Amino acid sequence: MQQGNLLNTTTFRLALIYLALFATSAIALLGYVYWNTAGFLARQSDEAVQVEITGLAEQYAQGGLAQLVHIVIQRSRDPRQSLYLLVDPRGSVLAGNLGRRPGVEPGPDGWMDFQFNRLTMEGSEVHSARARAFPLPDGSFLLVGRDVQELRSIENLITSSLAWAIALTVALGLVGGVIISRNMLARVDEINQTSRNIIRGDLSQRVSVAGSGDEFDQLAENLNEMLEQIESLMTGMREVTDNVAHDLRSPLNRLRTRLEMAMMREGSTEEVRTELERSIADADHLLSTFNSLLAIARAETGSMRDTMTRFDLGELVHDAVELYEPVAEDAGITCTVETDEELEIFGNRELLAQAIANLLDNAIKHGNKATCGAPQIRVVARREPGAVTVSVSDNGPGIAIEDRERVLGRFVRLEESRNTPGSGLGLSLVAAAAQLHGGKLKLDDAEPGLKAVLRLPVRAT
Ligand SMILES: Nc1ncnc2c1ncn2[C@@H]1O[C@H](COP(=O)(O)OP(=O)(O)O)[C@@H](O)[C@H]1O
Ligand SMILES: [Mg+2]
Repeated sequence: MQQGNLLNTTTFRLALIYLALFATSAIALLGYVYWNTAGFLARQSDEAVQVEITGLAEQYAQGGLAQLVHIVIQRSRDPRQSLYLLVDPRGSVLAGNLGRRPGVEPGPDGWMDFQFNRLTMEGSEVHSARARAFPLPDGSFLLVGRDVQELRSIENLITSSLAWAIALTVALGLVGGVIISRNMLARVDEINQTSRNIIRGDLSQRVSVAGSGDEFDQLAENLNEMLEQIESLMTGMREVTDNVAHDLRSPLNRLRTRLEMAMMREGSTEEVRTELERSIADADHLLSTFNSLLAIARAETGSMRDTMTRFDLGELVHDAVELYEPVAEDAGITCTVETDEELEIFGNRELLAQAIANLLDNAIKHGNKATCGAPQIRVVARREPGAVTVSVSDNGPGIAIEDRERVLGRFVRLEESRNTPGSGLGLSLVAAAAQLHGGKLKLDDAEPGLKAVLRLPVRAT
């Protein structure tokens, strides 16, 4: 995982979900506060106007227009927040503290919001007002309202504080989410990095423990304990393989030498010679099996990594084909080879040479029963983005798709091949070599035949 993929981390996604929940509840809470403060004040102001209208309507019903004019004049003298305007049917102002009719039509609810000039000590100020019109039966027109300038200021103050509070909640939530995810990510990344090094063969690596005793530390401790066990098992296995191979190789070599000497001695019959020759061939087979087993074990445990160098894989492929060409020709097989320029890779030259040799050996041994036309082998080495591939194809019987994974195992030989020489370790070694280099061996259909593709990644180092 890349350090930059913060958005893809579980922690960050969780943080975002919590943030969304938190922001929603904050908006709900603040909305409630708004409703109970600014909303309450606005409703109260509207109610006061409504009450006043009812009062004035009663006065009008009792004493007619004259009494209404009297009361409005009286009330307009001490206006506070209240606004009045009484206009006769012809449009001239009879009473009130609002200079003229506002230039807006009442809304569907009967209320109108408008601006007016309020006289103050220093002159006049533009204020917001909210009023209700009340037509009288004789055609006059009464308007009662309130100066809501202060109310609007309070509303603005409350809405801007609410907006700030929500913005702050979201910003803090995001920052918190990023910080927490980064910390988590750093620790997961470290575990991933260590795992990758271990997969590449360095079993001595351990996940570092922060010492806080949290879940990550427990995970690290468990992983380390597991690695400890695996490493001791692996070391034991490797020692056994090494010892067996070593201890058996020396007596086998001695046995072989003795058989050769016996064969050279005068006086042995033809029959004895043939038996001795067979015994030597058996000893050779055993020795090569041990050598292959040792090579596979070393490739799999990664101990061959110390001997890696830079070299050109194209040259290696040419050398290997050159070595096998005479054998192929004897078997009546034509070989073609094609390599790109400059296929430099970092790897174990000896092991890769052996791997390519094994693939060629298989193509000659198992692929010469050509199903169509003359038997031929085609070797191609190519540069691909981030990797170099070597493919060896023949036009023989190939391997059935369900056997392609299985034949990579040790000592696995298919039924059709039981009469050809071999021990079933060839492909295991190629697969182990691929794995050592961080690559892969893939068996494909060459239609007809087998196409074995060895893919080796090219690293920057
Ligand atoms: N080019 C090929 N065409 C057909 N079958 C193959 C080919 N290469 C390998 N095989 C099959 O896979 C088996 C395993 O191959 P390998 O591990 O090299 O062992 P060996 O060559 O010693 O038999 C072979 O026994 C054979 O059955
Ligand atoms: Mg083989």
